[in-house]
Amino acid sequence: MNSSSKSKTEFVLGIETSCDDTSAAVVDRSGIIRAHKTLSQYDIHAPYGGIYPELASRAHIKKIMPIIDDVIKKSAIKPMDLTAIGVTRGPGLIGSLLVGIATAEALSLAWNLPLYGVNHLRGHIRSVELDNKTITFPALVLLVSGGHTLLAYLPNRQRIDLLGATRDDSVGEAYDKVARMLGLPMPGGQAIDKQACFGQAIYDFPKPMINKNNYDFSFSGLKSSVARFINDNPQAAKENIACSFVVACIDTLMQKTRLAIQSYKPHSLVIVGGVAASKQLRHAAKIVCQKENIALVLPDIQWSRDNAAMIALATWDYVGDVNPKPIVPCPNLDICTY
Ligand code: KG4
Ligand code: ZN
Repeated sequence: MNSSSKSKTEFVLGIETSCDDTSAAVVDRSGIIRAHKTLSQYDIHAPYGGIYPELASRAHIKKIMPIIDDVIKKSAIKPMDLTAIGVTRGPGLIGSLLVGIATAEALSLAWNLPLYGVNHLRGHIRSVELDNKTITFPALVLLVSGGHTLLAYLPNRQRIDLLGATRDDSVGEAYDKVARMLGLPMPGGQAIDKQACFGQAIYDFPKPMINKNNYDFSFSGLKSSVARFINDNPQAAKENIACSFVVACIDTLMQKTRLAIQSYKPHSLVIVGGVAASKQLRHAAKIVCQKENIALVLPDIQWSRDNAAMIALATWDYVGDVNPKPIVPCPNLDICTY
């Protein structure tokens, strides 16, 4: 077997443009990253205090091909020697998804490679397996990102049972909105997480649905309560507000997670999505897993946020599909759908 046919069986190109990160990566079946690049758009969206969808699509159009070129060069693999291309088909912003899909379709034609539409949420779950970490099944997944907050039970790698999800704002969205109220810079979650380290949880913010015997969440009431508090107490220290807010979020997330661990008895807890980068959440999860005697599997901080490496790794779950579906962008794609 010559070296080019060897590499042909081993690497896929992943493309991620579902929201405000433009990303490409070349990854092998076991999660080893051959090349990766992500470009964030914080500077573009910061003046608007949140993501401006049309500007996100335009930035993806500008950046996606240079990033792919870079990644292919760094990987030192000829495009035709790749096994396949995988691209996020949802959930996400429709304009952003379309840029990634159109680019991937063009490259798949030009390079004569099979193309697969990947579920971004399944990509987040795979993010923990980049750099050789493994999930032991059955597993409980807590997915906490800017668009989602959910708990799912995975008896094995193929099957995902959704246990519960947020009924309104996601936890990441609440972090971002509270950061804006406190005048902190984007990315808001990161800024709140940092401020919270310097503060004390002296304010008792509500923890919606914490005592309900189900796996659903709600964060919009907490967010509104923080907004009212800031309005009524303009002198209160930012770091104490941030810390009290973070404690309310994490207590709620961990209470529901503990309930699911006790009911479903998984072997591991997997926490993924942008908010999994939170130091406080990581610390709280470690304590819960020690008490419940199960493994805690966390992605590297850089892979908890949106990136194409996790999409490339998830692409391997689709490779070889004898009936690959046409790639239809799906802004509301749910976690249970391939
Ligand atoms: O997974 P992600 O990159 O994008 C989506 O799929 O939504 O998650 C982005 C979210 C944002 O709400 C961001 O504020 C939050 O993750 N985030 C954090 C941290 N870093 C990013 N939240 C808490 N602590 C962090 N260190
Ligand atoms: Zn994401």
